[in-house]
Amino acid sequence: MKPIQVGLLGMGVVGSGTFNVLRRNQEEIKRRAGRGIEITMVADLDVARAQSQVGEGVQVVSDARAIIANPDIDIVIELIGGYGIAKTLVLEAIAAGKHVVTANKALLAVHGTEIFAAASAKGVMVAFEAAVAGGIPIIKALREGLTANSIQWIAGIINGTTNFILSEMRDKGIDFAVALKQAQALGYAEADPTFDIEGVDAAHKATLMSAIAFGIPVQFDKAYVEGITQLGAADIKYAEQLGYRIKLLGITKRTPAGIELRVHPSLVPTKRLIANVEGAMNAVMVQGDAVGTTLYYGKGAGSEPTASAVIADLVDITRLHTADPLNRVPHLAFQPNAMSDLHVLPMSDVVTSYYLRLRVADQAGVLAKVTGLLAEAGISIDAVLQREADEVVSDAANTSVPQTDVIILTHDCVEAKMNAALVQMQALSTVLEPITRIRKEELA
Ligand code: HSE
Repeated sequence: MKPIQVGLLGMGVVGSGTFNVLRRNQEEIKRRAGRGIEITMVADLDVARAQSQVGEGVQVVSDARAIIANPDIDIVIELIGGYGIAKTLVLEAIAAGKHVVTANKALLAVHGTEIFAAASAKGVMVAFEAAVAGGIPIIKALREGLTANSIQWIAGIINGTTNFILSEMRDKGIDFAVALKQAQALGYAEADPTFDIEGVDAAHKATLMSAIAFGIPVQFDKAYVEGITQLGAADIKYAEQLGYRIKLLGITKRTPAGIELRVHPSLVPTKRLIANVEGAMNAVMVQGDAVGTTLYYGKGAGSEPTASAVIADLVDITRLHTADPLNRVPHLAFQPNAMSDLHVLPMSDVVTSYYLRLRVADQAGVLAKVTGLLAEAGISIDAVLQREADEVVSDAANTSVPQTDVIILTHDCVEAKMNAALVQMQALSTVLEPITRIRKEELA
């Protein structure tokens, strides 16, 4: 049978990996897919560089539309990224009847509803395994492997850059800014690392997993997003003393009130496997009612790990493209006419537990006042850690005031209640600095 013909948009790190792995493993891939899969056209602004990578047998063009217009191309791989031209080209490829494979989490998390609707109307597939956790086949696991389950929650380390930074902060006792510089020097963090360190990249991925897990539309705008820029080395150290590691988690959870969708630093018990995922690695925990807890671990970025996911999608499409569109695996795991209208909860309605660090004057009654406010708010304390007074500074009256850190772990409470209690605690004259609040997940 004639090979499936693929056009590749964007010959960057992942594009090169895809081309190389497909060429290197072509015989085995053909035996699996049932027919050959060939990249016959590549679009890249740097035509000469791309041509030197792919050799003379592949047509390289600078205009991506030349690929979309070619009737021989069956599948378009979009590896341009972002919501701009990538969105236009994906929609044009769909309109031209091409199947699309993309690693573009930002595009799908924000415009997925429009893109999947266009694909369904045209009877083509949009596959995006590479968009979440790089080489880990988490989309396949959620959409197919766990299809028997009512998924209860997902918690993932789904951004390698921030996990690398947090690992460095813990290992070396360094602050965020120093660890970020190291990550940039080693090539883990982009020159503009905003999407990674502010949690946006993780939130794009969590949004996609949430949609597939619960059969809801992609709703990035409803995600709560908090990055790691405010984390201090002291909190990582105190968390360790209490038996926890701090990880940037993407969490989505089914609750009686609605769906939680949030990305923020979280304390995770050190004894959990996921707490021990270090460096730039990714891991995703999924809790299903039948299967219990499952854990998926691997490289979340990089040339060939991400290519592994892109090519898995090419093989899926090769196997399924002649199937009746209604009998294919739905884009978001649930049939488009059977989506749920479960709403995504605002962060103020989320129930979780907390780590609090208060810099206080080390005077009689301070701890009693703080814990009294928590008690009045109905927030139950799980553990308290008080350091020895470690600093003496002068107050307004020039009296020497010893200071100390008080660390409090709480039991579960609704976020709105904690927000109100924090305002009251912060107003105490003996609380000397802004209170640090980090959420805690037991992941039991
Ligand atoms: N920048 C991402 C990360 C990889 O650091 O994990 C691509 O999503």
